[in-house]
Amino acid sequence: MYNIKLLNKISKIGLDVFDENYSYNEEMVNEDAILVRSASLHEYDFGENLKAIARAGAGVNNIPIDKCSEKGIVVFNTPGANANAVKELVLCALFLSSRKIIESIRWVDTLKDDQNVAKTAEKGKSNFVGPEIEGKTLGVIGLGAIGVNVANAAIKLGMKVKGYDPYIGVNAAWALSKHAKHAISLDEIYQECDYITIHIPSNSETKGFLNQDAFAQMKDGVKILNFARGDLVNNEDLLVNVANGKVGKYISDFAAPELIGQENIIILPHLGASTPESEDNCAKMAVKEVIEYLENGNIINS
Ligand code: MLT
Repeated sequence: MYNIKLLNKISKIGLDVFDENYSYNEEMVNEDAILVRSASLHEYDFGENLKAIARAGAGVNNIPIDKCSEKGIVVFNTPGANANAVKELVLCALFLSSRKIIESIRWVDTLKDDQNVAKTAEKGKSNFVGPEIEGKTLGVIGLGAIGVNVANAAIKLGMKVKGYDPYIGVNAAWALSKHAKHAISLDEIYQECDYITIHIPSNSETKGFLNQDAFAQMKDGVKILNFARGDLVNNEDLLVNVANGKVGKYISDFAAPELIGQENIIILPHLGASTPESEDNCAKMAVKEVIEYLENGNIINS
């Protein structure tokens, strides 16, 4: 039997579906493995027995990778397990960035005491005109499972899609996607896209990836979606570019004090993977990886 510690709720099913003998105990300090969703392990005091950590998600920036390497602790993630959930929320954000849905809902809410609300609402609708996405160009930065899923869905919605990956070049899934173009450079994405969505990992090299240099090259009124990590965007530069209209809308899944309550900025509370299906997929994959490693020494998705 192994001691496996579960940090955060990563799924309703927890560990039970795999083997009722695998134990979970909040107080445990000498675990063989840790399963974690978004909690940070950077300050966590690893026990002597710890052999593996599995992140129920794609990003591993909440795990101290260097410390794990030094101690021989294997770190797993669950690539692709939440890609559909994140894709669906990115598509939702794509529509929110175009049609003035949030703004109009907020305005209609202010009409609560208006006895002629239907008439007032009709009159006010001309303030909430927003463009269709069909025929517009979406730039996808980062061609992992989520980026490729978003690209393929956007193509089905009639968008032109250009993709670029600063690390892996064109991956196999992208190459198979018949209607997406691979951009020669990031400049091409910045200069030609009406919407840009970013799907790269957060690390010391990618901090502030979208900064003044990038914004300066973009089309006026570009809509930017960030469902990868908050620190990929330089918020100081972003605020300047939202204020001067260069960035028409910024929708992000990551809160920061300076972004709250700003016009043309919509912030969600890291909801990308928050579907029961995705939580179950990630939990199952994470547990499988850890058990496979503890029992057979096999390393999948490390
Ligand atoms: C991810 O890295 O895949 C997401 O942050 C997962 C999550 O929201 O838990």
